[in-house]
Amino acid sequence: MQWSMLAVAVVRLAHVAALPCAEAVRTEELHNANHIFNAIHSSMRQWGSSFYHNGMSLFPAVVPAGTQLYHGTGFQVPVRGLEWLAFEPDHSLNFARRCKLSGLDFADSEQEDKASSIHTAHQPLIINPILNSEQHISRPKPPECVPGWLHTYRTKEATPLLYIDGMSAGKCNKGTLDSQDVLLLNASSESKGKFWEKERADRLCKLAAERWKGKIKGFIRMEAGFEIIMCSFSESLEFVHAVRAGPFSPAPDPEDKGFERMIWEWVKFVSARYDGIGGGRVKVDYDNLITAYAQELDLFEAGDDLPRLENVSAASLDVVRNEIDSMIESWDPMKMLNEHLIEWQSVADMVVERYGNLLKYLVSGALTTTDDLLGVLELTLRVFIDSDARDTAAEVNRCMTQFDPPDGGKGSIASRSIWDVTRRICDTLFHIFDVNMPLSESLQNLWTLIHYLDWSIWKKCPECPYDEVCFIPMWPFGAPGDRDNPQCRNATDMSRRWGYWGRPGAVGTEDG
Ligand SMILES: *[C@@H]1O[C@H](CO)[C@@H](O)[C@H](O)[C@H]1NC(C)=O
Ligand SMILES: *[C@@H]1O[C@H](CO)[C@@H](O)[C@H](O)[C@H]1NC(C)=O
Ligand SMILES: *[C@@H]1O[C@H](CO)[C@@H](O)[C@H](O)[C@H]1NC(C)=O
Repeated sequence: MQWSMLAVAVVRLAHVAALPCAEAVRTEELHNANHIFNAIHSSMRQWGSSFYHNGMSLFPAVVPAGTQLYHGTGFQVPVRGLEWLAFEPDHSLNFARRCKLSGLDFADSEQEDKASSIHTAHQPLIINPILNSEQHISRPKPPECVPGWLHTYRTKEATPLLYIDGMSAGKCNKGTLDSQDVLLLNASSESKGKFWEKERADRLCKLAAERWKGKIKGFIRMEAGFEIIMCSFSESLEFVHAVRAGPFSPAPDPEDKGFERMIWEWVKFVSARYDGIGGGRVKVDYDNLITAYAQELDLFEAGDDLPRLENVSAASLDVVRNEIDSMIESWDPMKMLNEHLIEWQSVADMVVERYGNLLKYLVSGALTTTDDLLGVLELTLRVFIDSDARDTAAEVNRCMTQFDPPDGGKGSIASRSIWDVTRRICDTLFHIFDVNMPLSESLQNLWTLIHYLDWSIWKKCPECPYDEVCFIPMWPFGAPGDRDNPQCRNATDMSRRWGYWGRPGAVGTEDG
């Protein structure tokens, strides 16, 4: 009897003694762990990346062989060089036109189209009127257009790309382009033309071809919809077909609703990707992510919750640039496809799913006494408690290691950020799991945690009806206030919401 009691005690001691050891492996807290956690959680998701629209991270990624991608253009012939591709045909359809722009005539040959690519082939019908309109808040006037073609392509083989996170195809001055123009291209001090998008794409592809020796075939970015800048269509894609984008409906267009319907169709299908691009179309290598967040930098100098790179020193930027170069040099995209990779995003999901609703409920005002609070907490925390041997350190440790993947991770930035964030949550919950703590103090602790986590799911609307979407600014759409307060909106309502991304004439530039 005594011996067996002793044995139990020894086992417990051994367990407790093992803790500092596990602790030692995981070094001090990662700088900006919460922001890195949110970048992982938001990656390849339209919702989180719209909320956190200034991306500070780059992820190597692979699009599997045979993945269908779309391109809208004024011309029927397959593209051979650098162009833009969308993941959703509804997104590309907006580019399947040839339009008269700013006093110019229709481009009447492919040659001309290529010469002014961004102004004809890539630039959608919607963007130009917004850019050219002086009163951008009011409804822009659509230009004169003729129907073009919607092309479908497939990747020839597994295609290695660099994913630039956030709203990285948002052509504006709010910081969505910092990771491209400041970090990758070192072009922050250059004066840029109106859109600078063709130039930006050319320079990104030059970087890929020269500095990265052609290993990266293009760049994944996001606006209202995910897209790829593919450096060479003929090298990476097989042409499937082109269909004419003329009038589609057997019924005539409702009077004056064309513009509204166009925005609606675009946003509606793009919002279907709020929670992920889907279909395994992009495999992200989380263990090789590079992020400016991991450096000891002050990215929030401007005082709001959106980071900027514009005032970061050249030396600090060079550190991150070198990390990117050496990551790409050693990265093996095929190994990533063939071996079991830890899907760190799905680990982050388990954390958010377990604690997201709980935390909001705890501070919702529904609980009015400490006993109520302890009752709800007990249901979440009891699985981590050995009722024979209360020990907060051991309990917090069980709580934060709950979602550790089989091999425990390799100390990558992704694994450390998830681990640090989970530790904060577990620490706070066990700290307030205390009968002597006044309710107000517990709530204070919870609010501190909630502000630290700042999960984008907390901004989501309750389920919207089919003819509405939960609307958050997605370049070029959105009005001031839509980020802080996303709402279910119908087509009419949405087509009137402009101005979040700034004065259109100044898109991508200081000098307009
Ligand atoms: C970045 O550009 C500045 C001038 O615009 C130049 O002095 C600097 O050497 C460049 N840095 C790199 C890494 O190319
Ligand atoms: C960068 O520095 C300039 C000049 O000091 C300042 O006006 C600007 O607000 C700073 N930008 C950010 C994002 O802090
Ligand atoms: C769209 O939403 C607005 C604002 O909520 C409302 O006034 C309008 O009636 C709605 N239109 C339709 C067609 O449902």
